[in-house]
Amino acid sequence: MAKENPNTAGNASNTLIEVNNLKQYFHIRNQLGEKSYVKAVDDVTFNIYKGETLGLVGESGSGKTTLGRSILRIYEPTSGQIKFSGVDITKFQRSKLLPYRKKMQYIFQDPYASLDPRMTVSDIVGEALDIHKLTNSKKDRADKIRNLLQLVGLNTEHSSRYPHEFSGGQRQRIGIARAIAVEPEFIVCDEPVSALDVSIRAQIINTLEEMQERLNLTYLFISHDLGVVRHTCDRVGVMYLGHIVELVESEELYKNPLHPYTQALLTAIPEPDPEIAKKRNRIILKGEIPSPVNPPSGCKFRTRCPYAKDICAQQVPEFKEHGKGHYVACHFTGKL
Ligand SMILES: Nc1ncnc2c1ncn2[C@@H]1O[C@H](COP(=O)(O)OP(=O)(O)O)[C@@H](O)[C@H]1O
Ligand code: SF4
Ligand SMILES: [Mg+2]
Repeated sequence: MAKENPNTAGNASNTLIEVNNLKQYFHIRNQLGEKSYVKAVDDVTFNIYKGETLGLVGESGSGKTTLGRSILRIYEPTSGQIKFSGVDITKFQRSKLLPYRKKMQYIFQDPYASLDPRMTVSDIVGEALDIHKLTNSKKDRADKIRNLLQLVGLNTEHSSRYPHEFSGGQRQRIGIARAIAVEPEFIVCDEPVSALDVSIRAQIINTLEEMQERLNLTYLFISHDLGVVRHTCDRVGVMYLGHIVELVESEELYKNPLHPYTQALLTAIPEPDPEIAKKRNRIILKGEIPSPVNPPSGCKFRTRCPYAKDICAQQVPEFKEHGKGHYVACHFTGKL
């Protein structure tokens, strides 16, 4: 039987998204034509509180995008449960899912690839309004589009232009306008600034923060960059090979990382506070992330962990609380 979600205990009314023991496996065939599967998300349990920005970090291939998409039910989960405002939406089919599709939106990493090049900005934003029947006249539709473009900082006179006529930052603003058009409650922001010039990243993050405040949004903010997440997120989950290995308030993660993988990720970024830097275990991450088709037994980090012992190969470490709201999956937390 699934264990109780440790995150939710006593906090149910404040929880928007609840994820319990979620698995997302993809069926593939190897070169010999034999069936196997990629364990992209492998037994993940956590929740997202109303109004927060929850960061999700980890190396490329750790399962961040798959987790974000599974929550939105873009994929059919292999097993486990997803609840939105207390409603179990895991098995909802098309018609029952549609209202939840409106509540949950997605902002893509590459704003260019995600925008249809043959549609004008006005059509892109308008299409989202049409799908969910959110306008009652032509004038209402045009007004709504204009307001949305204004809200995300785009020039309304440019609404008849095509995506290629805009800069990367402006295209991401179009993506944001499309996402907020349907008045969602929750948005998965999947590396929303990774493809952009460093000089405009802060502007896009500011826009996302402004939208969150004005529209009461909850974000899952995916990034491989711990530096970006630190200032943007209230809490951060660290993902490794389909597992969340640590989850805690953002500042605490930087001051007191408990999982060796988190410590390794933090070793790679400069820490301006000498007191914090002094206390950190410095771990240099060696080698590549193993394949999710054939992941290591027990703790999936054991092949790269400098502290690994026999038990790490035999038992999957439990994801449990070490100090208030600080969740870690390691057999030796507090003993390293
Ligand atoms: N549709 C798919 N079919 C097969 N494997 C997939 C599919 N989508 C993702 N994967 C695999 O799942 C793993 C996690 O991928 P992803 O969620 O994109 O990671 P991240 O976003 O952290 O880089 C990777 O090994 C990736 O190759
Ligand atoms: S459980 Fe073992 S291998 Fe995994 S992180 Fe902890 S010490 Fe390292
Ligand atoms: Mg990704």
